[in-house]
Amino acid sequence: MVKVTIDGKVIEVAASTTILEAALNAGIKIPTLCFLKDTNEVAACRVCVVEIEGCDRLSASCNTPCEDGMVIRTNTRRVRNARKANVQLILSQHNTSCTTCVRDGNCSLQDITKELNITNPVEEVDPRPLRWDLSQPLIRDDSKCIQCFRCYNECEKIQDLAVWDVIGTGRNSRISIAPGKGKLTEICSFCGQCITHCPTGALSARDDTAKFYAAVDDPELITVVQIAPAVRSAYGEMIGLPDEIATEKRMAAAVKALGVDYVFDTNYSADLTIMEEGSEFLEFLGKKDNLPKFFEGEVNGKDRCGDLPMFTSCCPGWVRYFKIKYPELVPQL
Ligand code: FES
Repeated sequence: MVKVTIDGKVIEVAASTTILEAALNAGIKIPTLCFLKDTNEVAACRVCVVEIEGCDRLSASCNTPCEDGMVIRTNTRRVRNARKANVQLILSQHNTSCTTCVRDGNCSLQDITKELNITNPVEEVDPRPLRWDLSQPLIRDDSKCIQCFRCYNECEKIQDLAVWDVIGTGRNSRISIAPGKGKLTEICSFCGQCITHCPTGALSARDDTAKFYAAVDDPELITVVQIAPAVRSAYGEMIGLPDEIATEKRMAAAVKALGVDYVFDTNYSADLTIMEEGSEFLEFLGKKDNLPKFFEGEVNGKDRCGDLPMFTSCCPGWVRYFKIKYPELVPQL
């Protein structure tokens, strides 16, 4: 354990604790932008800087561990000015057309700009250009990227796919598909975790609303919507309806009111899938040669017996991940 003083409060914490965590434990809030606990601790944005007595430079609290006797100040004029300057620097490369941004109202950069009371427009804004094929299911907009590395580390450390890398150097650097890895559709599971963890609108899912309405408005087309169970349980929360109001029947009625011809519950096709999976599994087990090896556990690596074990999942992200990472096991899918 080590003893540190933060804004006059003496606190005892484990030696590896960062200043940010220690401050949080003591009820002192330090603003952050790039930080993601255990995933992204690269101190890219320097919004969380603090003053440490005896140190000339300000330190990023999110990746500086506490040392015994440290005296830390989190809210001095110097600290506030530095945070402001760092966010202004980010804004100078950011496309700030917030009103038309998909993340307007749900953007960490917007929040921190307000929190630091940055009200003057930043002079000479020069965002990176948008270089992306907008027909992809996942959209990356360089003009809104703050190079926080959240997507990079989330994909590499948590999702285990390492789709993203840094391209170019200095002012021209940007995050994009790792060179030599192939097309996005070949290497990405489209799990959406990079979008979820992006603090701005730099990553988003392609918006197919116009396509949807075009189909609904086409009298030659019969439109069918199939809704997954996850949507049923989450849509009420999204639009602020209590559970007893946000029923699946109301959801189906709303979709029909939009002009859709048929609405199906994914549970129905899930039942069909389970029956199909069950039949396939019985077929696998029926192959006599496989049975002893299966029960002896010789089902991995070189000794894997034929098509056992069998893998299955309803999650398209999981299935894509499986196909990308373990193509040799695809016959068992
Ligand atoms: S939050 Fe600490 S450097 Fe970005």
